Amino acid sequence: MDAISVIRAKRDRNRLTDAQIDWVVDAYTRGEVADEQMSALAMAILLNGMDRAEIARWTAAMIASGERMDFSSLPRPTADKHSTGGVGDKITLPLAPLVAACGAAVPQLSGRGLGHTGGTLDKLESIPGWRALLSNREMLDVLRDVGSVICAAGDGLAPADRKLYALRDVTGTVESIPLIASSIMSKKIAEGTGSLVLDVKAGSGAFMKNAEDARELAATMVGLGTDHGVRTVALLTDMSTPLGLTAGNALEVRESVEVLAGGGPADVVELTLALAREMLDAAGLPDADPAKALADGSAMDHWRRMIAAQGGDPDAPLPVARDRHVVTAPASGILTGLDAYAVGVAAWRLGAGRARKEDPVQAGAGVELHAKPGAAVTAGQPLLTLHTDTPEKFGYAVEALEGAVAVAEPGTAYEPTPVVLDRIA
Ligand code: URA
Repeated sequence: MDAISVIRAKRDRNRLTDAQIDWVVDAYTRGEVADEQMSALAMAILLNGMDRAEIARWTAAMIASGERMDFSSLPRPTADKHSTGGVGDKITLPLAPLVAACGAAVPQLSGRGLGHTGGTLDKLESIPGWRALLSNREMLDVLRDVGSVICAAGDGLAPADRKLYALRDVTGTVESIPLIASSIMSKKIAEGTGSLVLDVKAGSGAFMKNAEDARELAATMVGLGTDHGVRTVALLTDMSTPLGLTAGNALEVRESVEVLAGGGPADVVELTLALAREMLDAAGLPDADPAKALADGSAMDHWRRMIAAQGGDPDAPLPVARDRHVVTAPASGILTGLDAYAVGVAAWRLGAGRARKEDPVQAGAGVELHAKPGAAVTAGQPLLTLHTDTPEKFGYAVEALEGAVAVAEPGTAYEPTPVVLDRIA
């Protein structure tokens, strides 16, 4: 077997055989297939696609490149959630302790932000003392004691994906449904969860800009999970405007704590409860009542124990950025659009995100929204507050927001986009 014949096969629109897939994924992980060869193959896959059997084999080969975790010793059923990523998507923070409060175990292996989408670990690291890196033993201990854990995935999980994802990131080959589906599902299946709920986002702030592509990605991932014995369901959700009223690390932790305290923005609460119900259903706990767990403080209690178990102080004040800049409404009328991608890029430029994976992030940086689409606004009223420790970036962030705000004539009818667009099982 050699890399060139595998690249040529996909370049010429042929199916890859099982043997070709097994070999190329393994040889790439071992360093026998060079980065430039895998880049060419990834581009050929992006351009010419893979069928369902090829995607399944590719996913299995990536799972086989590393270890598989085993949660069968836990007394509770396991349920996990994965979001394809968006702007202001802090849902994992309230969701994991909420689902644990309802009786499931939630092993939430999360990532850091890259580009305009935030990362769950970056958000939690704004809590003084909190540690993302746990050994497998520590992770199991927190799961057993608290019921939920949010931590970094260890190096041993799907190492083929770790290498390939870094390569795709710099070769323009991220936006391929077969490659995204196999990347996400190889990690989730190797992690060993019994059930999985996918939050597949569609809109300007997501990888998939339109609902059709998002639906195809969701169906592909549901098929992969089901074929591997993981009860998998996907919700297709809106990412045309940011989720909630904040985008940025400490700002999003603050909003998540508001949700756990029984308040918070309506869209964040709605999506948290929708995903919690799906996770509990998939875990075989359909009678659990997540709305009650938010209202009676038991979800908050689990949050505090989860943060403390990973070295964090849930009572410590969160970092606040040194400087602020207010963006005002350009006209009076009905706010009909506040573009998720533009807000994500602005938050990133203010210091909330990173351009390269080794870059630091600012805990306090980000964007706070004072109105959501559908609201009546008056010219000159504060619409957004930008937060940063590096005020020289304000101009650059404001530039990202050009054209992001749409205000229609007063009295214009506004049809809100639902938070949950579809369910795929
Ligand atoms: N997240 C992943 O883990 N992989 C992708 O390919 C895209 C998003």
